[in-house]
Amino acid sequence: MADNPTIESVLTEERVFPPSKDFAENAYVKSFEEYERMYSEAASDLPAFWAKQAEALDWFSPWESVLEWERPHAKWFSGGKINASYNCLDRHLATKGDKTAIIWEGEPGEVRRLSYRELHTEVSKFANVLKGLGIRTGDRVAVYMPLVPELAIAILACARIGAPHTVIFGGFSADSIRDRVNDCGCKAVVTADGGYRRGREIRLKPIVDEAIAECPTVESVVTFRRTGTEIEMKQGRDHWWDELMSKASADCPPEHLDAEHPLYILYTSGTTGKPKGILHTTGGYLTQAAYSTKLVFDLKDEDIYWCTADIGWVTGHSYVVYGPLANAATVLMYEGAPNHPDFDRFWDIIERHKVTILYTAPTAIRSFIRWGREYPDRHDLTSLRVIGTVGEPINPEAWMWYHRVIGGERCPIVDTWWQTETGTIMISPLPGATPTIPGSATRPLPGIVVDIVAKDGRSAGTDEGGYLVVKEPWPSMLRTLWGDDERYKLTYWSEIDGCYFAGDGARRDGRGYYWVMGRVDDVINVSGHRLGTAEVESALVSHDSVAEAAVVGRPTRSRGRRSPHS
Ligand code: WTA
Repeated sequence: MADNPTIESVLTEERVFPPSKDFAENAYVKSFEEYERMYSEAASDLPAFWAKQAEALDWFSPWESVLEWERPHAKWFSGGKINASYNCLDRHLATKGDKTAIIWEGEPGEVRRLSYRELHTEVSKFANVLKGLGIRTGDRVAVYMPLVPELAIAILACARIGAPHTVIFGGFSADSIRDRVNDCGCKAVVTADGGYRRGREIRLKPIVDEAIAECPTVESVVTFRRTGTEIEMKQGRDHWWDELMSKASADCPPEHLDAEHPLYILYTSGTTGKPKGILHTTGGYLTQAAYSTKLVFDLKDEDIYWCTADIGWVTGHSYVVYGPLANAATVLMYEGAPNHPDFDRFWDIIERHKVTILYTAPTAIRSFIRWGREYPDRHDLTSLRVIGTVGEPINPEAWMWYHRVIGGERCPIVDTWWQTETGTIMISPLPGATPTIPGSATRPLPGIVVDIVAKDGRSAGTDEGGYLVVKEPWPSMLRTLWGDDERYKLTYWSEIDGCYFAGDGARRDGRGYYWVMGRVDDVINVSGHRLGTAEVESALVSHDSVAEAAVVGRPTRSRGRRSPHS
């Protein structure tokens, strides 16, 4: 390709899988023609299209303008007042109060179910707990927890009072917590004593203690009891979740927030330097999260929906919490590892809970392939109707295995391309409409305008590799980098004139299908998670015997993308 020979594409794939007639007939979007019509209608008036999608949410007061766009700064639904927790909970109570919102399974095997009414009560109480600790609208709260319902409760409580949350993945170190908490000046940290992973207890609270010894803004720590392990509590600063909740009122009216009020900050790896605090705001983000969840998974009222991501990543924010709950879905959450107590844990969960939609990562699929098909074959997976992937390119062999062994050659596969920065899914098949080809994320969603360009901004030709860019603003786009607008402009808006570019190379084939080839910068994608070389280097040099370190990425058979020709 022009200017970058390293992202030459080598993939050729001819197998095409149209949706079954049965599936298409019952889907929201029933044919490729219908998708194309919807796409061009949206493209002809993007603000009108997105305004229509925003109407699916409940607003306390309507917006005055759909979009104010001064590149690279967007304001969506300006003047509108909204609350994300209200949209995920309160508005469902009249008709779906008793519907199960969360089915949670702990790694040791216990199962909890929370109805929308119960979840609403818990969230309202925890919002009052936060208020009682002096958290006000605009204050930042860090969350560092295992995958328990209380993690969802904590972030929805933050959203209820307008305190932006920053979730830090439970596998991160004390240093990562310290840097993130200090970067956004968090006033409180919500954590747990520990969690379970592969049968072992992972202690979390001691890691928080170590981190916030160097975090001057943190005034309180709330600890949820998950494992019951002994931990140290610092008088005046530390509180037990259950003790505060037992005294909290369940009455907490949601704040009426501006559409552009910050909903959360999520840190992601950069090519160089410290992690970037990606800022997402309320109205536009929730609009697109709700829209994409419904359309991409063809989500129906009776579905049992399972996205296997941890809420520590953006996938968990958009597709475990905000998107599905805004649609009043039943969401399954599983705390632990896929190979505990045995390699069939996922398939066992799907059979027992009759999961209908499964959304996971190519790296997980490659592990399943390695472990052998006897594990899924032990279970009845016929409840599944849509299966999806996210996080990295899926190699065609893995796609075919997923299609045959998990999808029973019956379930459409949605290979979804997006990023922490885009907030929600941008390119993906629609399961009832788009014929799929193994390895391609196919077409952009209606409302999304993408292109492949050379360095000078010229559109690339068919099958010519180039940079994947977004050409028009979209509601769930990041608004800036927390505290560093210059870096925001430089990182995303200066590489290709007039376009958003966040690092992926891709090509477009003769059908107009997109094939994402991966990063063109030196961010390393490990198991679907982005790590900066700088972060790996800093972890290495933190060891006493290491003076200097330089890190470069290298593909591996098991954890990286495998070329079909290798
Ligand atoms: C990669 C995860 C190919 C890509 C939601 C992107 C993908 C980065 C796909 C974002 C896909 C994600 N096909 N590559 N379907 N989905 N990627 O911010 O390189 O953790 O830039 O967001 O993952 O990773 P992030």
